[in-house]
Amino acid sequence: MTDPEEFFRRDDAIFANKELLEINHLPTNDRIVGRDEEIKQLANATNPAIFGQSPSNVLLYGKTGTGKSLCAKHVSRTLVDIADEEGINVRYVYIDCAQDTTETQTARSIAFGFNDPDETGITIPEKGISTSAYYKRLWEILDQQTDVAIVILDEIDKLDSDSILMQLSRAGEAGKICDCKIGVIGISNKIKYKDRMDERVKSSLCEREFVFPPYDANQLREIMDARKDAFHDGVLESGVIPKVAALAAQEHGDARKAIDMLRYAGEIAQSRGDGTVKESYVTEAREQAETDRFRELIRGATPHSRYVLQSLALLSLNSESDDQFRTTTIYDMYERVCGEHASEPFLSAAFVIS
Ligand SMILES: Nc1ncnc2c1ncn2[C@@H]1O[C@H](COP(=O)(O)OP(=O)(O)OP(=O)(O)O)[C@@H](O)[C@H]1O
Ligand SMILES: [Mg+2]
Repeated sequence: MTDPEEFFRRDDAIFANKELLEINHLPTNDRIVGRDEEIKQLANATNPAIFGQSPSNVLLYGKTGTGKSLCAKHVSRTLVDIADEEGINVRYVYIDCAQDTTETQTARSIAFGFNDPDETGITIPEKGISTSAYYKRLWEILDQQTDVAIVILDEIDKLDSDSILMQLSRAGEAGKICDCKIGVIGISNKIKYKDRMDERVKSSLCEREFVFPPYDANQLREIMDARKDAFHDGVLESGVIPKVAALAAQEHGDARKAIDMLRYAGEIAQSRGDGTVKESYVTEAREQAETDRFRELIRGATPHSRYVLQSLALLSLNSESDDQFRTTTIYDMYERVCGEHASEPFLSAAFVIS
């Protein structure tokens, strides 16, 4: 029998420091490129926190992969350090509103994020207490633990109501907190998000707004160059980064996609036992990045949108002609797919309208 040891590699011929290219990696200052102006504006808006005063509430907009989440975290992290040197206790929490969509979940996550139970003696249960009980604990934690609290609400458009925004923006005025100030950094890639906000929330939450423009090919190249040491010296063919940058810029200047493509190109070389990441691997890497993005999109869709998509895919697979289908044909297939998922289909009228 083959010894399984033969199947393991003891060293990595391609990557020297692969985490630099992982999705959740937060790069250090020297690796953040091309966002000086946005960082300056954000620092300016939150600067009062260093003196223990209220920071401006900010809303960041921009297309996907333009560095919004990165800059919000980076500026908050720096703010915490500088304030600490000034003897002011600033803390920040990062909330992904795509995960925490309801008021209760968000209030819970914020309280949990700021809480140090050894210091406060307060516990934040996963569930089983009311929204107002979470708020009560949150205000107590903030007063005990921070001079200034920064709450980053990423993908803020996914919240199912404005209530948490109202609570956070009015906590001081309403006397919920006495020793602490709150600043909110809201992030969205939906430029129209503000239009559906309650007027009162809008006036307090949108004190400043910044739009992050897409990156051009040069900026994308610089972003990747600054992480080149993810690879061993000499393994990257010189054309790889420029090609990835050109492809990502052609779409809409998405840095996440560029970094993903670069990592995939390395993984392709690795899986083929090739010691060089070739320019020709970039095309395949792009397909993989696209499949990934598509999978993410589908994962985020509602079950019935997925069933419709599955129906269309099945029809296309089985069709020999021009891939145009009558609504009734699609609906029949959709009913079948719903049946396979033990789900009740929407009525055909609702189906046509939607
Ligand atoms: N200026 C930059 N310098 C270095 N890396 C960057 C820069 N901008 C973005 N990145 C990297 O690109 C990826 C995407 O950035 P980020 O998550 O901040 O995008 P985003 O604007 O929040 O996108 P989305 O709207 O999809 O959430 C991250 O891995 C981030 O580290
Ligand atoms: Mg983001």
